[in-house]
Amino acid sequence: MQTPFQPEAAPLHVLVADDDASIRRACCEIAAIEGMVAHEAELSSRSRGLLLAKGVDIVLVDETIATGEGCDVLDELRLMRPDVAVVWMTSASTVQLALEALRFGASDYLIKPFSADELSTVLRRLAERRTVDAASRGLRERLRSGKGVGNILGESPEMEKLYRILARVAQTVHPVLIIGESGTGKELVARAIHANGSGSGKPFVPVDCGSLAPTLIESELFGHVKGAFTGAHRPNDGLMVAAGAGTVFLDEIAELPLDLQAKLLRALQEKEVRPLGGNHAVPIRARILAATHQDLTAMVEQGRFRRDLYYRLNVVKLTLPPLRERKEDIPLLAAHFLERNSLEMRRTFRLSAETLAFLVDYAWPGNVRELSNAIDRACNLASGEVIEMGEMSTSIRDAWMQATVSRRVHPEEGPAEPAVVTLAELEKRAILTTLDQVNGDKLLAARLLNIGKTTLYRKLKEYGETP
Ligand SMILES: Nc1ncnc2c1ncn2[C@@H]1O[C@H](COP(=O)(O)OP(=O)(O)OP(=O)(O)O)[C@@H](O)[C@H]1O
Ligand SMILES: [Mg+2]
Repeated sequence: MQTPFQPEAAPLHVLVADDDASIRRACCEIAAIEGMVAHEAELSSRSRGLLLAKGVDIVLVDETIATGEGCDVLDELRLMRPDVAVVWMTSASTVQLALEALRFGASDYLIKPFSADELSTVLRRLAERRTVDAASRGLRERLRSGKGVGNILGESPEMEKLYRILARVAQTVHPVLIIGESGTGKELVARAIHANGSGSGKPFVPVDCGSLAPTLIESELFGHVKGAFTGAHRPNDGLMVAAGAGTVFLDEIAELPLDLQAKLLRALQEKEVRPLGGNHAVPIRARILAATHQDLTAMVEQGRFRRDLYYRLNVVKLTLPPLRERKEDIPLLAAHFLERNSLEMRRTFRLSAETLAFLVDYAWPGNVRELSNAIDRACNLASGEVIEMGEMSTSIRDAWMQATVSRRVHPEEGPAEPAVVTLAELEKRAILTTLDQVNGDKLLAARLLNIGKTTLYRKLKEYGETP
């Protein structure tokens, strides 16, 4: 995960089951350093009570115990507490057994002798998975308590900051410039400003400056007199006037042609518009909100956007953070979109832990809209209640896999420089190295790489390796 989660309030309980007391002690110490409560035991029928009663979350088990007397206990545990994560401790000579264990539901494995760092990494990974699960469970409650402003959801510090500014600007009448990547909720925020301001109850008029022909925007915004152009059979007030004391939301403001930028600036300064073909001015009272996903300051420097209009609109600037910078909001948003689908389709949906972890890890270039669409699609495809990874679209999974592969191959550097090595090359290296590390076990390699078995086979074929 790129953004660490807030640790849960209750610490995780780890049980270390090994015949060797020194290993037990060392593991317990490391678990304690990781903020977990550690217990040690020889995993036998005697420790069954401890496992079930103590609410153990993670079991580190030596394979000799787990395949001997402890075997029944593990089976029982898996039945009664399927959420308990089992980490298989094995020796290098019997690594094959650990791989088998992974197939049968163990969460991870460690090859003895392992370092403190290796154990810490495994524990942290499991703790992170837990937190994601817990977040999912707590979501309904949080949704019920209505986190966010209006329809805007999010509890991240970035969103909290946004709400504070939003609450203040809603009470004013200044123009507000809303900046953010596509799908970050610019229109939602504009509507929230309107709904929380003095103009609520009056019209909210969105104008998409990007989708109207320039001649049309002019008459749409500023109105026209009868006969102003061919087909203007009747006079039209224009949206600025029609909005009355409400709000005009100028979406995609960067698309406004330069001559109309001048006309808009005049309208804002003089608080009146001159309809097309007319020589009279009509007063306007509407509040102006504008939005764009483009870098307006760069456009100003390039002479593509009027500096004076930029200053006029930018009295208050609200910058919406991309979803990848507030990953802690993803579970909340995902639950909201699931709930919406549940209501519409009269079915219950929930995410598997793996799917939720994936949703949190993925970078969402299309932001909240992309997340919302991805969940709608998955709900429509889902055959049962639980949404598995396979129900997420392949394009998203492929993009995620490429990013994951680059992170694995160059963990420090992030995505590799395409000029030096292509992503395809990186992917190939990651796949072949992983396969090598697991002695050619394709099932396990696919699992470690977080890709499907079929994808792995296809890739190997592409590389000319016999699957
Ligand atoms: N914080 C949020 N909480 C809940 N829903 C959100 C949030 N942000 C965005 N959405 C939803 O995501 C979708 C996209 O939001 P919106 O249309 O406001 O984005 P936008 O920034 O205007 O995108 P674009 O630049 O592509 O027009 C909408 O369905 C909106 O309801
Ligand atoms: Mg929009």
